[in-house]
Amino acid sequence: RDAMIIAIDGPAASGKGTLAKRLAIHYGLPHLDTGLLYRAVALALLDTDRKLPDPEAAAAAARALRAEALGDPRLRERAMGDAASIVSAIPAVRAALLDWQRRFAGAPEGAVLDGRDIGTVVCPGAAVKLFVTASAEERARRRHRELGGRGETATFEAVLADIVRRDARDADRDAAPLRVAQDAVVIDTTELDADAAFRAATSVVDARR
Ligand code: C5P
Repeated sequence: RDAMIIAIDGPAASGKGTLAKRLAIHYGLPHLDTGLLYRAVALALLDTDRKLPDPEAAAAAARALRAEALGDPRLRERAMGDAASIVSAIPAVRAALLDWQRRFAGAPEGAVLDGRDIGTVVCPGAAVKLFVTASAEERARRRHRELGGRGETATFEAVLADIVRRDARDADRDAAPLRVAQDAVVIDTTELDADAAFRAATSVVDARR
């Protein structure tokens, strides 16, 4: 069978990460959560007291990024999503991480990548492109529950404000803004649980391969 790349994009807390993991297991493909790369660049800057929007320091951190850095549990913290969206608007950071992501996607069997610009920029030739979305309120409910489960306290309103701010930053930037690829299939998970989203996604993948 030919290498199969599944590109999954969508806004914060849309369910794309959960879906990407399940698809990777189901089809026996390696999975890369590309948000972790941007989070790791942000963390590297914060750890060395560099300012997040400093393009030179951020690009250097992106070029020096190592796979081991992606396992740091601090990457999942609430503040890191916001920090990641700041460094991700820097073109030199995106350029450095593009090579990283393309190498990953070049695995002989293919790969599942999830992020904001996988179908539009990183893997424009992907066999399958999914755009996973949900209403901002539903995404905030999910993120609020998830943070609560990890012992982070934040009000629902604060989490919703985070999501709305991050959506705007990701969609309005010049460098690889969040967009639905022209050939992507949109899966709106506002009314779908994880199983239903998985079934919708596998029916798209199975029809394309
Ligand atoms: O998906 P996650 O919430 O971990 O992503 C954190 C931030 O990283 C996003 O808000 C976005 O600004 C940035 N990002 C990106 N391109 C990607 C993945 C993430 O710009 N492919």
